[in-house]
Amino acid sequence: MSTNQTTALFEAGESAGEIGPTGRPFPALPEPVPPSPDHPTRALIIALCNQKGGVGKTTTTINLGAALAETGRKVLLVDFDPQGSLSVGLGVNPHTLETSVYDLLVRKQMEIDDVIQHTSTQGMDLLPSNIDLSAAEMQLVSEVAREQTLHRALAKVRHSYDIILIDCAPSLGLLTVNALTAADKVLMPLECEFFALRGIALLTDTISKVQDRLNPELEVLGILGTMYDSRTLHSREVLERVVQAFGEVVFHTVIRRTIKFPETTVAGEPITSYAPSSGGAVAYRMLAREVLARCPGA
Ligand SMILES: Nc1ncnc2c1ncn2[C@@H]1O[C@H](COP(=O)(O)OP(=O)(O)OP(=O)(O)O)[C@@H](O)[C@H]1O
Ligand SMILES: [Mg+2]
Repeated sequence: MSTNQTTALFEAGESAGEIGPTGRPFPALPEPVPPSPDHPTRALIIALCNQKGGVGKTTTTINLGAALAETGRKVLLVDFDPQGSLSVGLGVNPHTLETSVYDLLVRKQMEIDDVIQHTSTQGMDLLPSNIDLSAAEMQLVSEVAREQTLHRALAKVRHSYDIILIDCAPSLGLLTVNALTAADKVLMPLECEFFALRGIALLTDTISKVQDRLNPELEVLGILGTMYDSRTLHSREVLERVVQAFGEVVFHTVIRRTIKFPETTVAGEPITSYAPSSGGAVAYRMLAREVLARCPGA
């Protein structure tokens, strides 16, 4: 680790043993080793989900994805939101796409390799989306096994990646149910603000229904505190309540509020390359370590 990164880590209050923002000692997390070239790949699929808007789903998908790619993993990001924010955040103009995840869902002869794009981050690819995807929700209603459509589409590339992250739309409709049905794990970003906990019951209820009816293997990977502002008592209180309510499932890593994230959207690249030694980049690298520690074999 470079001196810059160590400094940023220290400033973020997240060095091993020190009490972190969640009120628990920050664990010593091993530096991830790249997967061996001959290891059999079956991508771990993680859905990033919260029906509340603007909580950091897309920002986390991009930056966790880039941090995982830095560890040598092959990563695919799936933009599963008709707003296309993930695509925009990676410098792709959703209006000029010739093919998108929509075509994959509704056109049976569509090849997924023809839709996937490389990104400027080495080892990280994108399945882009645009407003067309909003029509898929209606079109899929009459399909048999409509909840499994994304699962079927991703099956063809599962052997080509180590990790697939699905950026969900702020809704609990059919698209999100498709994401949860395709996923092994769900990561819930939660904004550190007063009403954040309100919608979580609805989300966990949806997850339980998917586990019961569609995907018994689905597990909650963790809850990630986002937009944290250590200077306000309010942010700290919210985080404290989240830890009281959910315990160890809450990640030790917390993403602080910083203008750098909106800047990266304009730049169309992850914070890990836009501002590699910033606190935000270091935090997402820490999150990547926590995710890998929770998913042995990924
Ligand atoms: N840690 C942060 N600090 C400051 N701004 C942030 C942070 N994380 C995200 N943002 C900004 O907040 C806005 C919403 O973030 P983001 O798009 O990631 O949320 P989202 O949950 O995906 O939203 P939506 O529900 O609309 O898809 C964006 O402008 C983003 O740049
Ligand atoms: Mg989003």
